Amino acid sequence: MQNIIISGASGNLGQEVVQKLSALDTHLFVTTGSHYKGEFDALSGVDNFGIDLLDSDASHSFVQKVIDQAETIHAGVFLVGGYAPGGLAETDDEDLEKMIHLNFFTAFHLTKPLIAHFKKQGGGQLIFIGAKGAVSSNQGDANFAYTLSKSLLVKMADMINSEYESEGITATMIVPGIIDTPVNREAMPDADFDKWVPPTDIAESIAFVLSETGQKLRQPVIKIYNQS
Ligand SMILES: NC(=O)c1ccc[n+]([C@@H]2O[C@H](COP(=O)([O-])OP(=O)(O)OC[C@H]3O[C@@H](n4cnc5c(N)ncnc54)[C@H](OP(=O)(O)O)[C@@H]3O)[C@@H](O)[C@H]2O)c1
Repeated sequence: MQNIIISGASGNLGQEVVQKLSALDTHLFVTTGSHYKGEFDALSGVDNFGIDLLDSDASHSFVQKVIDQAETIHAGVFLVGGYAPGGLAETDDEDLEKMIHLNFFTAFHLTKPLIAHFKKQGGGQLIFIGAKGAVSSNQGDANFAYTLSKSLLVKMADMINSEYESEGITATMIVPGIIDTPVNREAMPDADFDKWVPPTDIAESIAFVLSETGQKLRQPVIKIYNQS
């Protein structure tokens, strides 16, 4: 059985990931933000924790609580994130700070205590969600703060893979195109939704990364764009 931490579980992608992984041989320790409506109460093997992951101390205490309960954590899947439009000319310090806190620090606050745990137990997997502009040149300029904040995650995953590979720790970047969510459909009603990426396909990819075969991948960057 795999014990897995999932952050952002109540989000559009998070709910699909929880459904997919909870049907496998797992015990999930999921975090939700301020909008949790009891979505996981009926699922067995899913423990929910409401935490503000912008709070470093609360994030560390949460990881310690899970270690106390589960003894071993095999993986962390970090889905918290958010988008903001605007190019360089429209971006100020506050916009940048907001995006970096939401997209980078919420993952970093869980990554640090999990790496310490993985080092003690001889390995583990981390999965981050990037953005197309953060892994490709000539893209992302229309959402400057968002792209910069996601590129911090991309570089962190790269550095984790470099520093901790010999200790059995791997970081995977999942890079979706436009995810087919109700929020995106409302924002872009005239788009061709068939060109987007269903969240179930991303959940499937995450399940593969966590599988026995997926555990053998090194420095994985999985681009799931469909035609978006
Ligand atoms: N949607 C897209 O097209 C797209 C494309 C590329 C990449 N992505 C990335 O994919 C990931 C998931 O996207 P999504 O559309 O599923 O996002 P979403 O529906 O907005 O969900 C975000 C989740 O993060 C939680 N959250 C936000 N702030 C938090 C905080 N301070 N502490 C703890 N939890 C917090 C939210 O909880 P509450 O709502 O309960 O507060 C929610 O569960 C994100 O990293 C996003 O950047 C999305």
